[in-house]
Amino acid sequence: MAAYTKTSALMARGCEFLGTEYAILCGAMSWVSERNLVSAISNAGGFGVIACGAMTPELLDAEIAGTKALTAKPFGVNLITMHPQLFDLIEVCKKHGVGHVVLAGGIPPKGSVEAIKAGGAKVICFAPTLALGKKLLRSGADALVIEGMEAGGHIGPVSTSVLAQEILPNLAADNLVFVAGGIGRGELIAGYLEMGAAGVQLGTRFACASESIAHAAFKKAFFRASARDAIASVQVDPRLPVIPVRALRNKGTEEFTAKQLEVARLLDEGVVDMGAAQLEIEHFWAGALRRAVIDGDVESGSVMAGQSVGMVTKEEPVVDIIAELMTESEAALSNRGAVAA
Ligand SMILES: Cc1cc2nc3c(=O)[nH]c(=O)nc-3n(C[C@H](O)[C@H](O)[C@H](O)COP(=O)(O)O)c2cc1C
Repeated sequence: MAAYTKTSALMARGCEFLGTEYAILCGAMSWVSERNLVSAISNAGGFGVIACGAMTPELLDAEIAGTKALTAKPFGVNLITMHPQLFDLIEVCKKHGVGHVVLAGGIPPKGSVEAIKAGGAKVICFAPTLALGKKLLRSGADALVIEGMEAGGHIGPVSTSVLAQEILPNLAADNLVFVAGGIGRGELIAGYLEMGAAGVQLGTRFACASESIAHAAFKKAFFRASARDAIASVQVDPRLPVIPVRALRNKGTEEFTAKQLEVARLLDEGVVDMGAAQLEIEHFWAGALRRAVIDGDVESGSVMAGQSVGMVTKEEPVVDIIAELMTESEAALSNRGAVAA
């Protein structure tokens, strides 16, 4: 096995926390991050995370059981905070002894962090700002992920490079912070590790791995796309705050505009309240992503992808992707100091 001495030394805290060989998480991707990809990531020494998305507790139960049948290594479960059955889903994780729960999609509702920890699992939260990161840590989060707007899927407004500069120098020495968004190569991983990150999270780079069940047409769309094709959705009605989603530009982009107008009208007519309106938008995305990932409808479905999509050029096994990232990181760290003073 290849030795990645310098990278492994910088990843040691993250590896210990995750129970892995490499502090590389494959971020949960709805429909993509199911038992096959998750177990492949964990078996390769990374950390796979099941995307619960809109799954019912019964479906999550089956998915965790299915993943456990394919790997004995640690993996996590990603739960969306606005899921109406969040606390039932937490119970399912507890029943299976899931070691790490990732809470995504907003500030965790009251009692959720405590409920997860009471079951013995570690809690990982997304920190959109330094202030919120500090608050989440005070509220019991065991680790943070900072994710920049280069990422695929739902995104915040700030780039990874800026978030990393604002948050790592302040929090990374005493806390575990993983960096996500736009990471396509190991040289960048080396940089974030040197800044104090405990590890990194990638999604786009793993979405088309050989073990991913994504439809061949979805993968082909990734291989053809370049960074500028992965665009953020636009909010059309100022009254309806929608979290932007980064996906490959297609006909579905226009359908989202129509959907927003429809939901805004329902809001105006008092048919739905703001919470229901936002849930309606989330259901739209879940359906559109399913059409692209599972059915291969890359025209009207949502081909969620980050800006690193241009660096995804072929189908490769997860082991090869991780080895490539680690080799690039190690080479970058080994070359430090090569410039004479
Ligand atoms: C197709 C796709 C689906 C995603 N679905 C989810 C999700 O359900 N929950 C979540 O927290 N993040 C989701 N993400 C974000 C990833 O977990 C990860 O944080 C992100 O992809 C990292 O940035 P990168 O795409 O630049 O590598 C998704 C990303 C993609 C590309």
